[in-house]
Amino acid sequence: MIISLSGLMGAGKSTIAHMLAQKLNCRLTDLDFYIEKKEGQTVSELFRQLGEDGFRKIESEYLREILRAAQRDSLILSLGGGTLTSPENRKLVKDNTFCIYLRSQPDTLVKRLLNNRSSRPLIKNTNEDELLEKITTLDKSRSKDYLECSSLIIDSDLLSAEECVQKIADKIVRLSPQ
Ligand code: S3P
Repeated sequence: MIISLSGLMGAGKSTIAHMLAQKLNCRLTDLDFYIEKKEGQTVSELFRQLGEDGFRKIESEYLREILRAAQRDSLILSLGGGTLTSPENRKLVKDNTFCIYLRSQPDTLVKRLLNNRSSRPLIKNTNEDELLEKITTLDKSRSKDYLECSSLIIDSDLLSAEECVQKIADKIVRLSPQ
């Protein structure tokens, strides 16, 4: 089974994916790190060089590559916050993974992102007010995409990372054939 984690920047995808992979003893792939390794450049550099549309194109190609290679494997896949904005990626994720939406309120995300903006091209030049505005806008435009793909929603701002991981693990155990 491939378990994918979606949600906005700051929702805890990478942290929870890491902890979940350890708990379930599964392989872990973080889509952003995978792209950076393959391209030899950071996500910020790729945004600068290719623009957001160009980044989305290579993001789709690498997503397809990861899913193809993981067929019948157990994998935890941490998606980028914008991966599911593309209809093609939504279909790939829906058809090939058990997708979990880590949902958080914009003001919680802003608190978490305030000191973690520099590596994220969409928010790196924002002040605190602009950051809240940006995250609120992204939440409005993307939540339907996350909902469309997800089989499980975890309100990650109401729980600790450990509690999120436990909830997901409980659900996965119930889904797995005995
Ligand atoms: C993006 C989120 C980032 C990264 C890129 C674009 C987005 O990933 O893919 O900066 O569009 O929300 P994280 O959600 O892991 O920060």
